[in-house]
Amino acid sequence: MAALRASGIVKRFETVCALDSVDLALETGQVRGLLGPNGAGKTTLLRVLFGLVAPDAGKVELFDRPLEWPESDALEGVAGFVEDPSFYPYLSGRVNLELLAELDGRAGTAKIDDALARVGLAGRGDDRVNGYSTGMKQRLGIAAALLREPRLLLLDEPSAGLDPAGVRDMGELVRELAGHGVTILLSSHQIVEVEGMCDSFTMLRRGRVVWDGTAEQLRAQAPASAYHMHCSDDARALELAGQQRGVRATPSQRGGLALAVDLGVLDSYVLALGSAGVAVRRLELLASPVESMFFALTSDSERPRNEPPELAELDRRALAGT
Ligand SMILES: Nc1ncnc2c1ncn2[C@@H]1O[C@H](COP(=O)(O)OP(=O)(O)OP(=O)(O)O)[C@@H](O)[C@H]1O
Ligand SMILES: [Mg+2]
Repeated sequence: MAALRASGIVKRFETVCALDSVDLALETGQVRGLLGPNGAGKTTLLRVLFGLVAPDAGKVELFDRPLEWPESDALEGVAGFVEDPSFYPYLSGRVNLELLAELDGRAGTAKIDDALARVGLAGRGDDRVNGYSTGMKQRLGIAAALLREPRLLLLDEPSAGLDPAGVRDMGELVRELAGHGVTILLSSHQIVEVEGMCDSFTMLRRGRVVWDGTAEQLRAQAPASAYHMHCSDDARALELAGQQRGVRATPSQRGGLALAVDLGVLDSYVLALGSAGVAVRRLELLASPVESMFFALTSDSERPRNEPPELAELDRRALAGT
């Protein structure tokens, strides 16, 4: 059964078209990453799916029931948060959950203990929320969603503010929930953070879906990894890159060269540089294949801060197969 089916969703804010004919379909138990840079429309789409904002056009079905705005029975079994989950800062995490459970008519200490434990907050449940770190608030947000025993979880940037161990734990929790048949749509502007959690992806750019498919399809279509290289002779290294199949090189604006190349080919390129008397002084991975694909599809003026301009150019060329 499809857990979620959205078609032709349009949402405009004055001059901005935040969502431009967005289609999205999720089968039960899928974990979909909703990816895009800042302002791509992720939060707006989640707001629409939560019934918080009515779209200007399009329709949504949740578990085969049409979603209506502003209120809808179709939202039964749907939980999560948009932007940051919010709580009463002067109350403990546990009391916040108790209040939410009461509002939902689903009180139960055992359930609250279980939710706190599942998000790794068992030892901190009685501390006030204003003493929580950003990551702990994210975890409490998930705990609150779990109280509703959701069939569909909509999570807006759940990995934001989490440390690497927190991201790993979040991934494990997401996979575990999916294993129990929960369908999950989670947004992020950092593909590396959520790559391992998701089995499919929808990429948004300026309100439009620019790519949609499974993790396998994404990996198969992803271009070569991008590297930044410092060596003893850039001109000679460029010349050698031109002679070797599968190596794309361009002078980098921060000195040295930017390369787009598969790992296997990179090895033989580095060996060829060595044989030609060119010493490699530094080689830095700029973006994994999946990241490169994400940048190439979603960037231009909205290029992520850390991405060197030449990377997008390399990606475009790699994607175009030139
Ligand atoms: N209430 C609003 N009024 C006017 N414009 C809005 C409103 N909400 C969103 N927008 C605009 O819609 C576009 C999409 O915003 P949205 O918040 O959905 O992006 P996002 O992908 O969630 O970005 P981020 O990664 O920064 O959270 C942006 O151009 C934004 O300025
Ligand atoms: Mg957002």
